Amino acid sequence: MVLLSVVEITKEYDGVCALDHLSLRVEKGVVKGIIGLNGAGKSTLFHLISGMERPSSGKIIFDGTDITSMETHQISALGVGRTFQTIQTLGNMTVVENIMVGMHMRLKGGFFSGGLWLPWIRRTEKEALTEAKEILEFLGLLGKWEWPASQLTYAEQKMLEMGRALAMKPKLLLLDEPGAGLTPMEVQLLTERISCVRQEGVTILLVEHHTGMVMEIADEITVLHNGKLITEGTPEEIRRNQQVIEAYLTPGSAGK
Ligand SMILES: Nc1ncnc2c1ncn2[C@@H]1O[C@H](COP(=O)(O)OP(=O)(O)OP(=O)(O)O)[C@@H](O)[C@H]1O
Ligand SMILES: [Mg+2]
Repeated sequence: MVLLSVVEITKEYDGVCALDHLSLRVEKGVVKGIIGLNGAGKSTLFHLISGMERPSSGKIIFDGTDITSMETHQISALGVGRTFQTIQTLGNMTVVENIMVGMHMRLKGGFFSGGLWLPWIRRTEKEALTEAKEILEFLGLLGKWEWPASQLTYAEQKMLEMGRALAMKPKLLLLDEPGAGLTPMEVQLLTERISCVRQEGVTILLVEHHTGMVMEIADEITVLHNGKLITEGTPEEIRRNQQVIEAYLTPGSAGK
């Protein structure tokens, strides 16, 4: 079953064509890697799927619903969670509060509504705290649950951001360079955790410059260049395609 269809999407920014009639499909339950040089349009694709930006033309269908013109909160409520290329954790909140922000979207009433200490709100909040701590345990951050997020290391903040997206219980998780700036050991840990998330049945779109990591966990890989889809295939097919590697995956070769 197709979970996400991007159909003939074009996105122009003041004369720059970030995406050019791009079409792709993501089957439910897979990890799809998206690779390409800087400026290929990878983050733009995520901005469009998550509703942060509107396409100039084309449409996006998620889980049978046309989400092309929907607001970000509507799209996340349908089950699309994302992380950002640059860290977006809320530094003045604690680690656990950052996770609870992600949950907020799907909890009845919203437990930041404040003031109303009705029993069901208290119960919801307690359950949310338990659930948030489970996510933190999975990410190895439970020992720091009460810390201000700003005091976490860079790698921990990247994990926390993924945790916040997971707290929304997404059907589709968009990860934009989760491994950027991490040490090889941290990348390995991240790879294992992403594999666990996938085993829970979450469909994942993974943008990453660590091609080794993408080759390890992706079922299929899409190569973008200048806003266009160059090729798609299994990691093995992409690895074997020396032309693709030389032309589109080697910085400095500009894909021409
Ligand atoms: N808000 C914007 N205004 C103008 N141009 C933009 C904007 N956002 C992206 N672009 C341009 O669109 C193109 C695609 O950018 P995008 O950020 O999607 O690339 P990317 O594949 O994510 O690159 P990177 O690997 O460096 O993150 C680039 O030429 C970029 O300069
Ligand atoms: Mg990017």
